[in-house]
Amino acid sequence: MTDGLVAPHGGRLIDREVGGDEAAALQAKAKSLPQLTISSRALSDLELIANGALSPLEGYMTKAQYTSVVETMRLPGGEAWSLPVTASATSEEAQSLKDGQQIALVGNDGEPLAVLDLEERYDYDKQAEAQHVYRTTDEAHPGVAAMYAQGDVLLGGKVTLFRKVSTAFAEHRLTPAMTRAAFAERGWKTVVGFQTRNPVHRAHEYLQKTAMEIVDGLLLHPLVGDTKDDDIPPDVRMQCYQVLLDGYYPSDRVLLSVLPAAMRYAGPREAIFHAMVRKNYGCSHFIVGRDHAGVGDYYGTYDAQAIFGEFTPAELGMTPLMFEHSFYCTSCQGMASSKTCPHGAEQRVFLSGTKVREMLAAGEAPPPEFSRPEVAKVLIDSMSGGGVQSGAGGSGGGA
Ligand code: ADX
Repeated sequence: MTDGLVAPHGGRLIDREVGGDEAAALQAKAKSLPQLTISSRALSDLELIANGALSPLEGYMTKAQYTSVVETMRLPGGEAWSLPVTASATSEEAQSLKDGQQIALVGNDGEPLAVLDLEERYDYDKQAEAQHVYRTTDEAHPGVAAMYAQGDVLLGGKVTLFRKVSTAFAEHRLTPAMTRAAFAERGWKTVVGFQTRNPVHRAHEYLQKTAMEIVDGLLLHPLVGDTKDDDIPPDVRMQCYQVLLDGYYPSDRVLLSVLPAAMRYAGPREAIFHAMVRKNYGCSHFIVGRDHAGVGDYYGTYDAQAIFGEFTPAELGMTPLMFEHSFYCTSCQGMASSKTCPHGAEQRVFLSGTKVREMLAAGEAPPPEFSRPEVAKVLIDSMSGGGVQSGAGGSGGGA
């Protein structure tokens, strides 16, 4: 790379999207191919494979890739990779297909949008995947439940996208090539990526700004694919990010863009995935705080940090920035963590997620030490409009 930014995972950005005449020809051809409707998660992955966010993947995993990733957290070529990226079919659907054949992948509007060069169909052990990847076989875990609901056969092979998967948040739906170009244009060499599925609360802001002291810029990169029903919808979150950036961040040091990935809630394994994906978007650094990508009490508070120790720095090719549970301390009169604050629990502004939800639902803003008033207002307005029922707490205050 000549832009001075971190190299993509595996060395080069994959591009599996065609446009113009090539797209028109493939679209015409797709009409006569066997059609397969893919899940919402596979659809999100399709967009990310095509635009290079999942480099070095060029398609849905083959059996060798899948097994290697599930069992060793590496691709057969040795690259760090922690989550399966798969397309599934029912046994009946799979029986009607042939290895070596081309298949049209159909989105939720019923129209084909990509072609899969089907390399192989293979069976997989869902319980084993759950145990390895999610560290639990409990179907109450939302990521495990989504995987259990998949078809019983996986389809591996390269994909070629000829139509946009979605145009939601178009202005902020930047591909890795686009974020890299934006960083280069601003002269940034070091960029910290921030993953979030919540509104940005003061603790998140503290992490971001602490990191911003040592790098050239921040990529605020909220995930906007499928999340749990009780997480805040992405359109409301985007409003929160916008008011926060307008009021409290230097505009020339932050880029807001969306990550159209589905949330797996796989905790530690997903933290590695999130980091490698952000490296593809051009981030040299990535923030991992408390219970990153966690849900319920399936993972220990810092498990998602500890897992980085299972990889060499060369395998990661970027720098994770680990943060302890952060909070506002009334004695320090500022944001802190136990690494910087000597005071006790009674000095720390702590609100459980349930408490924050209750307050917002009652039209009451959480204290400004927890959430910026502008952000709280967006959340309260969205709730009174019936948009958000719950989940507004997030983990910003450690809920
Ligand atoms: S996540 O599922 O995307 O991880 P969330 O949007 O709440 O959830 O978190 C975004 C990032 O901020 C994660 O790296 C998470 O670990 C971190 N984080 C959230 N709240 C805190 C907190 N109070 N202290 C430290 N880190 C936090």
